[in-house]
Amino acid sequence: MPPRQTPVPFVEVSAEAATAFRRRLHRWYRQHSRDLPWRRTRDPYRILISELMLQQTQVSRVLDFYRRFLERFPDLHTLAKARPHRVLEAWEGLGYYARARNLHKLAKHVTSTRDGIIPDSPEALRELPGVGAYTAGAVASFAYERRAALVDTNVARVLHRVFAPELAPKSGAGLKRLWHIAEQLLPRTGKTTWTHNQALMELGALVCSARSPKCGECPVHSICASAERFATLPVALRRGRRRPADVANGGTEP
Ligand code: ADE
Repeated sequence: MPPRQTPVPFVEVSAEAATAFRRRLHRWYRQHSRDLPWRRTRDPYRILISELMLQQTQVSRVLDFYRRFLERFPDLHTLAKARPHRVLEAWEGLGYYARARNLHKLAKHVTSTRDGIIPDSPEALRELPGVGAYTAGAVASFAYERRAALVDTNVARVLHRVFAPELAPKSGAGLKRLWHIAEQLLPRTGKTTWTHNQALMELGALVCSARSPKCGECPVHSICASAERFATLPVALRRGRRRPADVANGGTEP
């Protein structure tokens, strides 16, 4: 019989730590966030398109595709009525074409069964084609300002480093524990959740990057469980040198 592994405990974040984290993060976001088109709207359709495009694709690449896609398919009904090859054509160059096929399915489903209204709860969103836990949290919080958590690769990296460097963030168990942390960090209101979730993603993209985190610019540096670990790495390994990646990121990358 193989030895039984002790289960990894769930990390509990104190109310004080959560408040300190949120304060620092939100203040930083107000000063440093990028002006992105999907942050200027609460239209669920537009938010959904942006979130699907941003899965596995960088912001700079998505910007043009997003604009052109919306020119061609300005609303859910237009998309639902479109021929499949037209939808794939508009997605061409972005890759991961299952996203486009699922989006088209979703548009048809929502127009035929929900009067064209994209649902606002993470639970109902998750029932739609191609919508996973992350996208459900993103649409609920960004379009409807619902108090819903989200964890994508960037957010997982931030939470892992700041609160739980002992977790294996890519494992199912690790990811579950990161979701639990994200839920404990949520602000009280849905309106502030919008800022909070955008800020978490922005910190992961701009500061707490995978290979060369800019700890000196990080608003939560003073409360980060990994700060010392990065500070003691030789500069050559901190400054974006590719190999050995396991050393450069402390062997803890999600
Ligand atoms: N990646 C996924 N969603 C994003 C958002 N709302 N802003 C920036 N990057 C993102």
